[in-house]
Amino acid sequence: MLEGTTRAAVKQAAGLLLAGELVALPTETVYGLAANALDPVAVAKIFAAKMRPLFDPLIVHVAGRAGMKPLVLINDSVRRQVDRLTECFWPGPLTLVLPRTAAVPDLVAAGLATVAIRAPRHPLFRQVLEASRVPLAAPSANRFGRVSPTAAQHVAEELHGSIPLILDGGATPIGLESTIVRPTGERLEILRPGPVTAEMLREFGQVVLPPAPSGRPDAPGQLSSHYAPGRPVILIDHHEEVGEPDRAAAIVWGPLPPEGRRFVSIASLSERRDLTEAAARLFRLLRDADRPDVKTIYVERVPQEGLGVAIMNRLERAAAARRPS
Ligand code: TXA
Ligand code: MG
Repeated sequence: MLEGTTRAAVKQAAGLLLAGELVALPTETVYGLAANALDPVAVAKIFAAKMRPLFDPLIVHVAGRAGMKPLVLINDSVRRQVDRLTECFWPGPLTLVLPRTAAVPDLVAAGLATVAIRAPRHPLFRQVLEASRVPLAAPSANRFGRVSPTAAQHVAEELHGSIPLILDGGATPIGLESTIVRPTGERLEILRPGPVTAEMLREFGQVVLPPAPSGRPDAPGQLSSHYAPGRPVILIDHHEEVGEPDRAAAIVWGPLPPEGRRFVSIASLSERRDLTEAAARLFRLLRDADRPDVKTIYVERVPQEGLGVAIMNRLERAAAARRPS
């Protein structure tokens, strides 16, 4: 995009947002579907466009700590922890769940007493925040329960027709949704694993990992039906386990095997076994594998370390989703 074109697009986006409309735009994690977080009618349009149940609260995006202040209540017991976390990870892929003020509409928080908040790092998103001067509520820009979009094209496929503007910032660099944590002062409860890993958080408090998915979890993103392509996903340790490759897509970890031609399609999360590259490619590969001539999508597990924890979290949810019909 040319610089002048970008400026015009940012201005158009801010204008639409202030007029109560929706805009899809990139963050460093995945594409978001944004509305003015202070405008409940605009926020309601997000739920309608995504077909998202009203019990699933949204993340509010701000430029930084100053933008967070009017929206959250920070008591003395968590202040230092929140200061250190935001200093270290903002702008970036860390979402904090904190008690909210009355400025946050109930709909944004799905009636909870807390709000999830983060400062995104993507320059395009930051420019729109700066131009609109309002906090932006933005879930991932996919239909509810589906794989998050990591390219503008994916947003168009998911939500075509239902939103007035998609800002195209190319592929999102990280490719996995932000880490969601609840700071308690002493502890840091990870509600959704993500790019900011447990190892990275350890120095800020005692890290508590997410409980197993349940009926009505604290972060409904934990619902086991999340991150699902249309076709069943089965996790495997090695592609040689697959019985019917001629009806299957394979997503492998490491070099592409020469016998891969047996599959309808085959791709690697990372040929050099790099977890950062795997995270950036995961959702696109799941989307690509989700094609009519494929009956089942087989995905090789990645190591459960660092970013691998978040990757496996999304894959397990994709695999837990719909059983073969
Ligand atoms: O990287 C991201 O976080 C992306 C980009 C667009 O910023 N956003 C994103 O939003 O993944 P969404 O709506 O797809 O996922 C937000 C998750 C949901 O699982 C929701 O339940 C949880 O955050 N959440 C929101 N508010 C919460 C709250 N007050 N307490 C606990 N969980 C909350
Ligand atoms: Mg989502």
